[in-house]
Amino acid sequence: MAEIESPRKPHAIMISFHLQGHIIPFVNLAIKLASKGFTITFVHNEFIHHQISKSQYNSTQVDIFSEARNSGLDINYTTISDGFPLEFDRGGNLNQFAESFLIDFPTRVDEFVGKILHSQSSSSYNYFLIADTLCVWPAKIAKKYNIVNVSFWTEPALVFSLYYHLDLLRKNGHVPANGLEENITYIPGIQSISTKDFMSYLQGSESTIIHTIMFAAFEEVKNADFILCNTVQELEAEAVSALNENQPFYAVGPVFPTDFSESTVARSLLPESDSTEWLKTKSPGSVLYVSFGSLAKIDEHVILEVAEGLLLSEVNFLWVLRPGTVSCDDDEILTVGYKNRIKDQGLIVPWCKQNLVLSNPAIGGFLTHCGWNSILESIWCGVPMICYPLFTDQITNRKLVVDDWKIGINLCGGISVSREEVAEKIKILMGGGKSDGLKEEMKSVRNMMQNALDGSSERNFDQFLKDLKAKILSKTKD
Ligand SMILES: *[C@@H]1O[C@H](CO)[C@@H](O)[C@H](O)[C@H]1NC(C)=O
Ligand SMILES: *[C@@H]1O[C@H](CO)[C@@H](O)[C@H](O)[C@H]1NC(C)=O
Ligand SMILES: *[C@@H]1O[C@H](CO)[C@@H](O)[C@H](O)[C@H]1NC(C)=O
Ligand SMILES: *[C@@H]1O[C@H](CO)[C@@H](O)[C@H](O)[C@H]1NC(C)=O
Repeated sequence: MAEIESPRKPHAIMISFHLQGHIIPFVNLAIKLASKGFTITFVHNEFIHHQISKSQYNSTQVDIFSEARNSGLDINYTTISDGFPLEFDRGGNLNQFAESFLIDFPTRVDEFVGKILHSQSSSSYNYFLIADTLCVWPAKIAKKYNIVNVSFWTEPALVFSLYYHLDLLRKNGHVPANGLEENITYIPGIQSISTKDFMSYLQGSESTIIHTIMFAAFEEVKNADFILCNTVQELEAEAVSALNENQPFYAVGPVFPTDFSESTVARSLLPESDSTEWLKTKSPGSVLYVSFGSLAKIDEHVILEVAEGLLLSEVNFLWVLRPGTVSCDDDEILTVGYKNRIKDQGLIVPWCKQNLVLSNPAIGGFLTHCGWNSILESIWCGVPMICYPLFTDQITNRKLVVDDWKIGINLCGGISVSREEVAEKIKILMGGGKSDGLKEEMKSVRNMMQNALDGSSERNFDQFLKDLKAKILSKTKD
């Protein structure tokens, strides 16, 4: 009797990008895809695996996806080396690391993918690639192995559009912006944006290896079969539909864990403090949450003014002050004297489970660096923001929050930060009266996002899966 050939299962190879803000949604995406019945091979860079597993389990011999697998998801977890020893200081040698990421790492990924494709079990699967848009290796590898490639963008569609239309911006002399302030109206899907709101990489004329990677990535993404974006269609309708005219572009955000405040898969590079007990002592909506994210460095002067501004405001605060915020060895930015003055008003922790904090009823506002994950999470919890963007997309994200959606305010009008202004903005955000409008807008934006979760984002994701399967089938017939 002839054997009936079983259909091959779609199998995603997902190699994460090594930054915290990218790892979080990428892991969430893997879980979402697996919960739709896909098989996944999830791959972290070895040093990322070590950092996550050490900080979360105090052991590097763990499979951080085992709990997800036990719950029935078909996710195989492994690691890939970037060629540097674990103890190599990647941040401190950024140029060397980035150059290797651009030139050497693609070869490693090539070998890795080749091995999977030639392994024994490979005849049961149709493989495809999902990579962060900032990865510069997918084009070469997808082409070589003739597999479908999906690009995942972890920032808003607005930011994607600006990078995507870099040539147009250059032709018009608006990139580099070089401190000029002009409103741009010719980017498809963007009504108007000031050059001052461009991402930091479009601002100056300097050209670092990071610029090279960003720009190369946006050349390559133009060939991706599909692009997924961690945004909400209703929030960026025009930008999303304009992009969709060029390439299949799906707004599938927010890509959150199934249980918003507790993920089964560890994703944090740093140990997380639990402040639940302290928050219990505070009344609803009375605490300002303060965090400048996982990556950027800040002037010591700014930290000290924020510190004084917090005390002056007399508002309760939970402040995530990550070691390394000012410099590599800044363990004690704030003096013991300062910490004694805080008393019950505030709590300072090195890192936290942000989703758990934001969803705590005691939290009434968020002083944020405007990282995209932070913004999505804050909206999800209905928490209005004070914005202090530092670099990269954060500058552009601020425009969405403050100017377009009106769910946040700026920390400072000018360039310098003063304690008086910090205190004033905190009082505006946390007090009644002036912030009522913000709270109303936040309600409607939050509703839009919550509706999208079972609405547009789910529909777009299902459409993506349908288109993906068709594409995979057409490939295998080539
Ligand atoms: C982590 O593991 C090491 C060695 O296995 C042990 O000495 C240390 O006490 C552990 N630390 C914590 C915080 O559990
Ligand atoms: C998981 O991936 C590793 C590395 O690619 C491979 O050696 C192993 O066979 C895979 N396991 C399963 C169950 O597919
Ligand atoms: C993606 O795959 C297509 C073919 O399906 C190929 O032409 C293209 O170069 C690949 N691009 C990227 C960015 O991987
Ligand atoms: C840009 O547009 C904003 C909002 O409409 C306006 O307030 C601002 O003056 C404009 N800037 C320039 C340089 O034209």
